[in-house]
Amino acid sequence: MAKIPEKTSILRTVDVNRSFGMVTAADNLNIEVGQGELVGIVGANGSGKTTFLNLITGYLRPESGRIQVMGRDTIGLPPRLVTKLGVARSFQIPQLYTNMSVLEGMLLSLAATSGKGTGIWKPLYRESWTAEGLDTLERFGLASYANRPVSELPEGGRKLLDIALSFALKPKLLLMDEPTSGVSIEDKFQVMDTLAKVLQEGEITTIFVEHDMDVIQRYSRRVLVFETGRVIADGEPERVMADPEVRKAVLGRV
Ligand SMILES: Nc1ncnc2c1ncn2[C@@H]1O[C@H](COP(=O)(O)OP(=O)(O)OP(=O)(O)O)[C@@H](O)[C@H]1O
Ligand SMILES: [Mg+2]
Repeated sequence: MAKIPEKTSILRTVDVNRSFGMVTAADNLNIEVGQGELVGIVGANGSGKTTFLNLITGYLRPESGRIQVMGRDTIGLPPRLVTKLGVARSFQIPQLYTNMSVLEGMLLSLAATSGKGTGIWKPLYRESWTAEGLDTLERFGLASYANRPVSELPEGGRKLLDIALSFALKPKLLLMDEPTSGVSIEDKFQVMDTLAKVLQEGEITTIFVEHDMDVIQRYSRRVLVFETGRVIADGEPERVMADPEVRKAVLGRV
């Protein structure tokens, strides 16, 4: 019988540990994420979700264990070099000048990732960057805002721009910490619909932290549940959430 090929591993952590004083923020994490997966992470406040993302991006160094991104060991690499491997984390929107236009924001991001930099002698408006910036905005449904100030974007649009900016890196692995926080319930699903489509089209492996289980269930076929730095469940959201221990950890009630 033909062997079913295994999905290419994009991320693998082996026995990863990290603590802060008495607090264990990553407790023996053994997590593997394959090409094209969209993995949700849930867990109570302080359960280690952001720490996990910080460990992957190189902002935090584990005390022990291994982290591999596309088969390459990354522990000890500075965040800048982990980024170069294709690991993107959405930018924080407050970093953008809000009176800058949406397209200018994209161009600045493309300039920053090109390594060429910008300056008065290096114009921001390169033709190739403009075409790429507009194309990305189009995919994120933001093209009509291209020449308007960032401050005019509705909250959901800002969140999408935040992620669109990280696309300048052409990421293979995208990490998002609560991509829809602060977005109204009505707009949440619209933002996630757009995101899910873009990620699928680009076959971009994604890990996202999300408090709302409805969002996870709708968009993700896999959820990791964190509790005090440990993964207490990993699997299909509906099945995982049927477990009383998980419900208690996530919802605070069974
Ligand atoms: N740089 C740090 N210094 C000291 N303690 C830290 C640091 N980063 C995280 N912690 C602690 O590690 C634990 C896990 O924190 P983390 O930010 O990963 O949780 P989280 O699951 O992202 O929580 P939230 O849902 O509130 O964002 C917490 O107890 C936190 O106080
Ligand atoms: Mg967090």
